[in-house]
Amino acid sequence: MTSLADRLSDFNLDVDSLVVVLTGAGISAESGVPTFRGKDGLWKTYRAQDLATPEAFERDPKTVWEWYDYRRQIVATKRPNPAHVALAELDEKIPHFQLITQNVDGLHLEAGARRVIELHGNLFRVRCTAEGTVFEDREVPLKEIPPHCRCGALLRPDVVWFGEPIPHDLLERSFEACRHASLMLVVGTSAVVQPAASMPLLARQAGAPVVEINPEETPITPFADISLRGRAGEIVPELATSLLDVLGVG
Ligand code: APR
Repeated sequence: MTSLADRLSDFNLDVDSLVVVLTGAGISAESGVPTFRGKDGLWKTYRAQDLATPEAFERDPKTVWEWYDYRRQIVATKRPNPAHVALAELDEKIPHFQLITQNVDGLHLEAGARRVIELHGNLFRVRCTAEGTVFEDREVPLKEIPPHCRCGALLRPDVVWFGEPIPHDLLERSFEACRHASLMLVVGTSAVVQPAASMPLLARQAGAPVVEINPEETPITPFADISLRGRAGEIVPELATSLLDVLGVG
């Protein structure tokens, strides 16, 4: 059985390689943050279209905020797990690195990662519906539901809802990274929500080997060069150690 380092060294990587990582809810599952589509996923107990859409917010901002306040309360009690910490270490040590996350729990930032693109926003950022200003808000639980800006307008969660576009600059930066990737790691995503789901294939078509970490098969699996069936908290730290070794930045 060839070691993970042996398999990674087949990719001819070096210190100048660009390592791109795409993460989904699965990387936070071991921190206790519920996923969306797993057996006890959030979308099983809540209907996305009732809560995570501009129409739902327009119709009933109080209920939408009650749900986000609930999610903020859950996430506020969770900590980064070894997978988040290992990716933060890669960010610190690898010269050319880009982490792209679909998660809104902020755990990558809390683990110390800095080169992070939060495609779908962050639960602890709010946006004024009148002025568009965005600011951090970690008040848990919220004292006022729905919360208002100092200008008097409603505040909304600074997250991307179904039917809303991902900010263009975040998309451009993400696609650019995938097009120039020397290696693409895909951790804990069901790869069913676009445009994130297309990013690993974009990287692969640009010549980057794809390594997937997920207990289950996904649409990425058929073209992944390496598919590691297991939990992120166990696999990512080992993968990070092997990768730093192979890149010569250990
Ligand atoms: N380690 C790694 N992967 C895991 C773990 C774990 N411990 N536990 C579960 N997974 C995997 C599941 O097998 C699944 O493939 O994580 C994935 C979670 O999939 P989803 O719940 O669909 O989450 P995600 O892929 O991030 O969803 C994408 O959909 O609803 C929108 O905006 C939401 O960002 C989210 C997007």
